[in-house]
Amino acid sequence: MNLYETLAADIESQVARGVLLEGEKLPSVRQTSQRRGLSVSTVLRAYSLLESKGVIESRPQSGHFVRARPRAKARTPGAPAVPPLVLSSEVDVSRLVLSTLRTIRSEGAVPLGSPYPDPAPFPWPRISQYANAIARRSQHWSVIDDLPPGNPQLIRQIARRHMENGLAVDPSEIIVTVGATEAINLCLQAVARPGDTIAVESPTFYAMLHAIERMGMRALEVPTDPRTGISIEGLRSILAQQKVTACMVMPNFQNPLGFQMPDERKRELVQLLAEHDIPAIENDVYSELYYGDTHPTALKSFDHKGLVLYCSSFSKSLTANYRIGWALPGRYTAQVEKLKFLNTLTTASLPQLAIADYLQNDGYDRHLRKVRKGYAERARMMAAAVLRFFPAGTRVSEPQGGYVLWVELPEGVDAMKLYALALERKITVGPGHMFSARGSYTNCIRLNFSYPWSKEIEDALRMLGRLAAHQ
Ligand SMILES: Cc1ncc(COP(=O)(O)O)c(C=O)c1O
Repeated sequence: MNLYETLAADIESQVARGVLLEGEKLPSVRQTSQRRGLSVSTVLRAYSLLESKGVIESRPQSGHFVRARPRAKARTPGAPAVPPLVLSSEVDVSRLVLSTLRTIRSEGAVPLGSPYPDPAPFPWPRISQYANAIARRSQHWSVIDDLPPGNPQLIRQIARRHMENGLAVDPSEIIVTVGATEAINLCLQAVARPGDTIAVESPTFYAMLHAIERMGMRALEVPTDPRTGISIEGLRSILAQQKVTACMVMPNFQNPLGFQMPDERKRELVQLLAEHDIPAIENDVYSELYYGDTHPTALKSFDHKGLVLYCSSFSKSLTANYRIGWALPGRYTAQVEKLKFLNTLTTASLPQLAIADYLQNDGYDRHLRKVRKGYAERARMMAAAVLRFFPAGTRVSEPQGGYVLWVELPEGVDAMKLYALALERKITVGPGHMFSARGSYTNCIRLNFSYPWSKEIEDALRMLGRLAAHQ
């Protein structure tokens, strides 16, 4: 390649990777020539080549800008206007989810299908040091010390963290659990009975569906906008027609869509549910992973009736290995505490103490700032790569936090087939089938972008695009 072609190819690849954003101004011809040590005429030739390819445009008196491409957007799943009768469904997704998650562990596979973040940047060695020190100094602790609601030192740290993030919490409401999974299960069990109907977002994270499945309840999938969250209008019309016992939502950086529900809509949702005296189970595991300047508001902060049962964990922000989560169950605290006792007696002490020591003495905020920055960059890079490599008609979500991208493939592509073909090539994806009890989203996949960008990931995306196009 000539020098000008090499420069043009470099810039084009930065655009494709989302490093240079649509509408962003390119460095001037003179700056580029100085920085790259190229002649002005070489840079001009490169820029005009990119113009002719439609990658950039020149604006009189202003310079060169990345051109806006016709954008593919994630679609609102289901019509926002809710049909007269929305049917609830039995839930049977856990077998599929378990078998899929097992394959994600397979040796050497590209972990695009993993629900967990890349562990590499997480402060595991620091937490282990705290655990070792605790084990050395206190060999005689007993589970009795940490009976529900949990270890007092950890409970204090969780309350402090909530306060720093703008949610004033009474420490006596905090119940430590085995991950957010146990918190979600116990909260649902506290508010509903087998056979009850539970409203969920659509698509929804499968842990919500599992909790419903475990209790023999029914799921009612409410249309959910990929930017603003569960349709409040839809839910209102459903509540006018049928009995719903509880509602399960993930207002901040929902898995799989990645949206952050605007505060005004959170307030409206809490109000609507309060009018019907319906408890809401809020899953907030991604709240520390925001890309904006401030921590998102919890649904719970709009609740004045104790009807929001808040669930979270350290699995996404610190470590999933210790399985430490918690619930703030509002007016259901006593029931959830009793269920916790009946379910697992206590949560393991050592992980509780090690995390409490880490939170008290170490650099949690520094660690979080680093991972948030990486995720925000990779969200753009992965979306750009998917739109580049996947067949025309593919749409992607625009996550506001977290580390998953929702990809809607053209109608007719079967995500389970794509999953199987990709697995043969040691690439994993999360098939859309896992996110609905009704068997929706069969042409969607969820991709994890927490791992550092690499040639391996780019090649895997190119291969997935080819496999999808072939279908
Ligand atoms: C949205 C969401 N909720 C809950 C969980 C489960 O969290 P934990 O590992 O703390 O049980 C996960 C983990 O994948 C998740 O992504």
